[in-house]
Amino acid sequence: MKKDIHSLLLKKNRGEKIVSLTAYDYMTARLEEEAGVDFILVGDSIAMAVFGEKTTLGADLDVMIAHTKAVSRGAVNTLVIGDMPFGSYERSDSQAVKNAVRFLSEGGADAVKLEGGNSRSVSRARAIIDSGIPVMGHVGLLPQSIKQAGGYRVVYSNKRDELFEEAFALQQAGVFSIVFECIEEELAAELTGKLEIPTIGIGAGRYTDGQILVVNDMLGLSGDFEPRFVKKYVQLDSIILEALKKFSSEVRDGKFPADSNVYHSREEK
Ligand code: KIV
Repeated sequence: MKKDIHSLLLKKNRGEKIVSLTAYDYMTARLEEEAGVDFILVGDSIAMAVFGEKTTLGADLDVMIAHTKAVSRGAVNTLVIGDMPFGSYERSDSQAVKNAVRFLSEGGADAVKLEGGNSRSVSRARAIIDSGIPVMGHVGLLPQSIKQAGGYRVVYSNKRDELFEEAFALQQAGVFSIVFECIEEELAAELTGKLEIPTIGIGAGRYTDGQILVVNDMLGLSGDFEPRFVKKYVQLDSIILEALKKFSSEVRDGKFPADSNVYHSREEK
């Protein structure tokens, strides 16, 4: 049975942890579904993880929709959430609805995510939800607003009132879940206990209802990018590098292709 937004709420109510990861392509999505993740986010982190940019600000809507399509095909039984990139929802509620619709109709996503809990983001979330599309919120560190924030900053309890206000405004608007990014553990735990909807942490400690990581980071494919909240479960970059070097030397030494890799004449000998 396909996992949907209701299964996340059920997990929160049962005290079961929600497992999620980003994915940007068919093959990774297929493996994540096989591993049993509860939802996959096609994050705007694609700009950094796949396109080598320094921030998420360059994530392009058309590109994101194309990658969402690939992920949806790879994970047909998993909740797939498309991350609305910078510039795709700021202008107006109608711009937000129009672009959210594209994630579902063209990308095959089941829901969208947008950043922020100020009055503008809450209004966009409400408009999208009113059009029948489930929305996930995102508070704490907001990568799309780093220019305004002056960098990547963890949210500590001096920002408690603002954080609580934003999270409750998003819940009130009808979002089905909220990502907590880089929030002091104690604060994230308290807010998780007070909200009815599930919270998904990245750098927000142990007590959110679920966890998400950027898949390239946890697979060891992000070079020396090593923020405190990431755990590398494998160092794939060195495994891949070793295979690439072996291929190169075998081609140069004439060891590849071997006889077992070639087609011979079909004539009877
Ligand atoms: O784009 C992304 O990967 C995200 C996660 C940090 C939650 O928004």
